[in-house]
Amino acid sequence: MFMNFWYVAGFSADVVADKPLKSRMLGFDFVLFRDRGGKVNCLSNICTHRGGSLAGGKTVGDCVQCPYHGWQFDGAGECVKIPSIGKDGKIPARTRIDSYPVQERYGMVFVFLGDLPEAERPPITEIPEYGQDGWRATNQVRERRVHFMRAIENGVDPAHNEFVHDTHGFQGERDDYKVGDLDMRETPWGIGFWNKMHAPPLADGKMRAASGRTEAAFIDTGTGHHGPCSLWTYIHPTPQVKIHQYSFQTPIEEDVTRAYLVTMRNFLTTPEHDARMIERNFYVAGQDDTVLVDLEPVVSPRTNSHEVFMPADVPAARYREFCRAWEANGWRIDTAQMYADRGRIAYAIPSPARRTSKGWVIDPVPMLPGSDIAKVAAE
Ligand code: FES
Ligand SMILES: [Fe+2]
Repeated sequence: MFMNFWYVAGFSADVVADKPLKSRMLGFDFVLFRDRGGKVNCLSNICTHRGGSLAGGKTVGDCVQCPYHGWQFDGAGECVKIPSIGKDGKIPARTRIDSYPVQERYGMVFVFLGDLPEAERPPITEIPEYGQDGWRATNQVRERRVHFMRAIENGVDPAHNEFVHDTHGFQGERDDYKVGDLDMRETPWGIGFWNKMHAPPLADGKMRAASGRTEAAFIDTGTGHHGPCSLWTYIHPTPQVKIHQYSFQTPIEEDVTRAYLVTMRNFLTTPEHDARMIERNFYVAGQDDTVLVDLEPVVSPRTNSHEVFMPADVPAARYREFCRAWEANGWRIDTAQMYADRGRIAYAIPSPARRTSKGWVIDPVPMLPGSDIAKVAAE
């Protein structure tokens, strides 16, 4: 799992004014709470007093109050009240808790889990169609027992559609099946490609009628990743009819991922058609999961020598190269150590304030050393 990226902590609508919300990401609990100005704050969930779970407390003014002894922490993670020392007691600076940058976008709460200063942070995946005339959005979420790297590799894999998805392919029944050439794209935060996919018409009768395509055809599709946990997938059943999907996969443990999906469509744009789009997406995602839950090893190998790659696997191979580069930056959590210490040592993902102040009570999570990872990548 990687720090120094934005992760979806939950839906905006679930962070209400008077009650903190617990969210698990990268193997840690976080507390989200909305202050009186409406701003969502995100802190490490561990109280620096006796390790209380802040999300089990309540929102008081602009603070979250620990349920154990009532200490209060503001959105910056500063402790502003310790009831046991009375009103005039001096609050030690060491009581502070990690506070993480938050942005609400696309109906979701994004949290930056890492310590990079603002100017160096990778951006959140852009959804240019969101809120635009002629487009309709749906949001959905599901939990999958899948490592996020396996999930992203699946997303950028043009060869699985034919066999895994009856919505997108023909189960290998066509003699002339072959993955067409991939028109590769690259950004600073990931790779993608466009290609022509031989696809049956949309299964849903209303969607099929609205798309105007009732026969199988080679259609334009594009897909790619942005960072270690986010995907974009464009499906154009006809040149005019477009489905643009944006997937934000939040690892909640090494092998469990909470997948948020925003689907933009430019047809059947009234709300009564949302349910059929959401249902189709769950159906397709469920097909992927039946394959992905049984992959060995659960975590993608850190070198490519223990799997065999074909031309259709170039996007997955490039994704792994990006991940290795982020490892070399020192952004990959040492999950073996983290899990070995679970229950005995409390850790936190380091927040940006750790770059400028010392004296933190909670240790930062162990990270894989960058130089070591670079050596592995060169093997
Ligand atoms: S454990 Fe949080 S106030 Fe004591
Ligand atoms: Fe798939």
